[in-house]
Amino acid sequence: AQTVTRTDDGVVTVGGIDVKALAEEFGTPAYFVDEADFRARARAWRTAFGQEADVFYAGKAFLSRAIVRWLHEEGLNLDVCSGGELATALSAGMPADRIAFHGNNKSEEEIRRAVEAGVGRIVLDSFQEIVRVAHLAQSLGRRQKVQIRVTVGVEAHTHEFIATAHEDQKFGIPLAGGQAAEAVRRALKLDGLDLIGIHSHIGSQIFDTSGFEVAAHRVVGLLKDIRDEHGIELPEIDLGGGLGIAYTSDDDPRDPHEIAKALTEIVNRECDAARLRAPRISVEPGRAIVGPTAFTLYEVGTIKPLDGLRTYVSVDGGMSDNIRTALYDAEYSVALVSRTSDAEPMLARVVGKHCESGDIVVKDAFLPADLAPGDLIAVPATGAYCRSMASNYNHVLRPPVVAVNDGQARVIVRRETEEDLLRLDVG
Ligand code: LLP
Repeated sequence: AQTVTRTDDGVVTVGGIDVKALAEEFGTPAYFVDEADFRARARAWRTAFGQEADVFYAGKAFLSRAIVRWLHEEGLNLDVCSGGELATALSAGMPADRIAFHGNNKSEEEIRRAVEAGVGRIVLDSFQEIVRVAHLAQSLGRRQKVQIRVTVGVEAHTHEFIATAHEDQKFGIPLAGGQAAEAVRRALKLDGLDLIGIHSHIGSQIFDTSGFEVAAHRVVGLLKDIRDEHGIELPEIDLGGGLGIAYTSDDDPRDPHEIAKALTEIVNRECDAARLRAPRISVEPGRAIVGPTAFTLYEVGTIKPLDGLRTYVSVDGGMSDNIRTALYDAEYSVALVSRTSDAEPMLARVVGKHCESGDIVVKDAFLPADLAPGDLIAVPATGAYCRSMASNYNHVLRPPVVAVNDGQARVIVRRETEEDLLRLDVG
């Protein structure tokens, strides 16, 4: 569905507009999101799961009002994890009952706003939060739909910082030692809560569905224990997000239809074995929807060849617009997109303009040896967790996000200005 192509003279076009025109109009660095591609991926997830399941886009991957509107129009729901994300969702018209509210340390203020707004569910993450949400809901005269997030004890094969189902970490309530069963007991006793299901998110950038299989097995085991102990069958389970994408090749992630089929089969099989009515499934993909749909466009600045090592190519952004390389050793590719070149490839490292040597955007890349200041280079697959984790380190201004669709480009998040920075500085 991506609308990126290369013309005969080597200039890349997206949504029918060439990158030189985009750079001229919007400046660099900038993120360009392919709206048709985003909508197609969102739709593919929704249709893959059909009427039997719900897809909640994980807003943490990248959220803006335009994104919320696209999701709404494509029939998806939204997972938010802070007051800021909630405010963005509501202000763009996402119906509150299609919002799930996450987080391991939601403030009372955030909980109150979520309950008052009428969010479809709050995902409870601790024993204290069970009581906190129950009391707040009751004081507002509400009965809040909630799920309990459990850790199922799976080691997901991904970077330690983005794995979330092993027990020794801050999210969720362990199934182990009967802790999750105890959380259910407490939630069922509280009038302010309507416990609708169990939630499990095993981690991020995962390719293998075996982790989901173990998670589903254990969550269904808990549903069965709940039925045996309390005589009720909880109607929902959420298997979280985490499906990986290709960063350095054109391979597409697994087809959502395949994933939907695999997850539904696993849950149905486990439920059959436990003689339970199959619960309604929900999933929370973030990266798999938005990741491949955007790229970052940079202008090449200083080029520094280091004899016998490599050539350092500095761009006009860096770790402030993509922290993932420094934080997770993430791999990206890069391409010259403003012209063709027949020059030999040179081993390059694409670095930013920040004051630290870890400020690397692409660690190892081949770029043409005649690369020159002023050339435009693009780093694909920066749609997820790049703008959303962007910072103002060194008081560098955060880049804009531009949506490109069918020959039209429009800013959906504008470039930060020095005025924006100074407005916060009230000393
Ligand atoms: N649901 C929950 C409860 C989550 O915690 C997350 C991600 C998702 C869904 C969406 O996961 P996704 O489908 O996007 O993998 N900053 C890291 C990723 C952190 C993910 C945090 N939670 C990165 O840049 O790789």
